[in-house]
Amino acid sequence: MFHTNLADSLANVTNELNGGTRHARISVDSRTEMIRLMNQRLASAIDLQMQMKQGHWNVKGPSYISLHKLFDEVYETAESSVDLIAERIVQLDGVAQGTVSASAAASQLTEYPHSIADGCAHVEAVACALSSFGHEVRDMIS
Ligand SMILES: [Fe+2]
Repeated sequence: MFHTNLADSLANVTNELNGGTRHARISVDSRTEMIRLMNQRLASAIDLQMQMKQGHWNVKGPSYISLHKLFDEVYETAESSVDLIAERIVQLDGVAQGTVSASAAASQLTEYPHSIADGCAHVEAVACALSSFGHEVRDMIS
């Protein structure tokens, strides 16, 4: 009798440690769909993050310093979002698909133009990437 109760207690503790109680109100189907959608956004967010570095590294011209710094600030903001999305996926018992190759395969963003250097062209490319990501996130929510 004692051993049965002890085994049940250990099973309950293990379930809680594994997040069983935390997910009691979210069905497995809902969690699976949330994880799938969040991994799609994670891919685009990682792509967005690296697109900001592409602008940061390659911008040239009279606005170089201000745009170089601005694109790095946007990169850092994107980085914190990437971390948040990935950790939420894992909290839902999913696996964050955050490698560069997985992100490249799943990102919804268009490729950042490789042949631009002018500050205005980079501002347009950065704005386009941010806008696309924003639309993607809003579409997922609705
Ligand atoms: Fe840098």
